[in-house]
Amino acid sequence: MKILGIVGSKRKNGNTSILVQESLKPFDERGIKVELIFLGDYDINGCNGCEGCQDTFECVIDDDMHQIYPKLFESDAIILGSPTYFYNVSGDIKKFIDRCYCLDFFHKEDRSVWMGLNEIIGMKYATVIAVCEQDNLEDMGYTADVMKKSLEALSYRVVSTVKILNQFTAGEVLKDSKALNESQKAGEKLFKTLELRNLLFNKFSNRISQNQIKE
Ligand SMILES: Cc1cc2nc3c(=O)[nH]c(=O)nc-3n(C[C@H](O)[C@H](O)[C@H](O)COP(=O)(O)O)c2cc1C
Repeated sequence: MKILGIVGSKRKNGNTSILVQESLKPFDERGIKVELIFLGDYDINGCNGCEGCQDTFECVIDDDMHQIYPKLFESDAIILGSPTYFYNVSGDIKKFIDRCYCLDFFHKEDRSVWMGLNEIIGMKYATVIAVCEQDNLEDMGYTADVMKKSLEALSYRVVSTVKILNQFTAGEVLKDSKALNESQKAGEKLFKTLELRNLLFNKFSNRISQNQIKE
């Protein structure tokens, strides 16, 4: 089992970073492999909409995103966190999501039919964390929904969506035990989801391979 935490704020000691790390704790404490990355450390360009990936199944832009794709493939789940920037995700998160377009495949004759690569290589899970300054949900805008809907379009099952309000200065959230607790509980739920998946996989893998042989 491997979990990837992805931070979409450039403030390494900021609120998003702290909350994503809080969600990783239940895995870390159990000795499960976790990796934390800051998108700001990578040189990621925006998608140029060339559609090149729809034939090659690979993004044609030569940049650091190619260091992140393998991390996505290797992980069973991701924890994606973004601060609210003008009612939406940060630019780093938006670029990251758009560059995952190459992981979705559309039917040649009917573009209303598409499928994420995850459906072929195995179900993946996600937790989404959004954090903003104001103390009402309206001012968080689309932040959490953009991440949730995009990951779902990429065939991730989003297990929890954490929305943390009222955090402005970097690291302020350390004083908010309720917010820390909520993020940790989301991590715990993600762990239990993967635990259940493994249990069911072991229980039914016999049947799955028998069915595959039948076909
Ligand atoms: C460019 C910019 C835009 C922002 N827009 C919003 C906003 O629309 N709503 C809000 O509540 N907070 C907004 N904020 C505040 C941040 O979401 C808040 O400070 C958050 O805790 C930052 O997270 P971080 O510490 O992980 O960087 C904005 C901050 C910046 C720098």
